[in-house]
Amino acid sequence: MRDLVERTRAAGRLVGLVPTMGFFHEGHLELMRRARTECGVVVVTLFVNPTQFGPSEDYDAYPRDFERDSALAEAVGVDYLFSLEAEEMYPEGFQTTVSVKELSEVMCGEDRPGHFDGVATVVAKLFNIIPAHRAYFGQKDAQQLLVIRRMARDLNFPIEIIAVPTVREEDGLAMSSRNSYLSPEERLAATVLYRSLEAAASLIESGENSTGVIREEMEQVISTEPLVNLEYVTICDNIYLQPLSELSGEVLLALAARVGRARLIDNMVFDVE
Ligand code: PAJ
Repeated sequence: MRDLVERTRAAGRLVGLVPTMGFFHEGHLELMRRARTECGVVVVTLFVNPTQFGPSEDYDAYPRDFERDSALAEAVGVDYLFSLEAEEMYPEGFQTTVSVKELSEVMCGEDRPGHFDGVATVVAKLFNIIPAHRAYFGQKDAQQLLVIRRMARDLNFPIEIIAVPTVREEDGLAMSSRNSYLSPEERLAATVLYRSLEAAASLIESGENSTGVIREEMEQVISTEPLVNLEYVTICDNIYLQPLSELSGEVLLALAARVGRARLIDNMVFDVE
């Protein structure tokens, strides 16, 4: 794969990479479309990465459908869909980890120890296997995006990281492969996550500057749904993920919650003067 990409680069074509774990939905397809409009050649990787799942997480149950995924990728004009097995990615004797320390320990890192090391390591490997000019990631996974940006900068990967806005269902729920775990009741309840972000957005628009007040409002909105168990709400800067007491600059509002057996995340970014 590396040789092929290097020949493509040498021929003067811009190469775009979209890393995924498959089971495509509109969020994934949007990343591919964006890469398609900006790049000469689009490579999508499909690898359900075992090292980013905790021992009690859903690696085995994670939804997979390669036939459907390859048809969808082809329909949006992807040039190469590259998939590989865990034994090929991590052959016997593998022992190296890329760890983006502080960014990986907070927020989702607290509940999922080792998760972002798994992500950073596999993405570093993918950047080496497929030396693209640009790589596309979803804003939906805000912390993952920041971990990858930091990793690429710290390790001098000559690749541009592009963030693509979150794609949502009509009722606002952020698209996710894990939404397929929700019962119809849970699916309805899950919309409260987006509603809490919208409530925060209107407070911010009306001039509210205290993160304590905004967080309380979000928690209050979410508490109206007994099927939704909130894990965290955080309001922090959008580079280092340091909690803020007052809004200023580029601010990330992020949350995680359990709904049935799904763990869902969502976020919004605001630029505050
Ligand atoms: P996966 O969950 O398959 O997501 C692949 C890419 O799609 C990620 O960049 C993710 O942020 C983006 N994405 C998911 N849902 C989205 C939505 N609703 N709107 C916009 N983008 C969305 O994230 C991973 O895989 C893995 O951790 C990976 C980076 C591939 C490393 O294994």
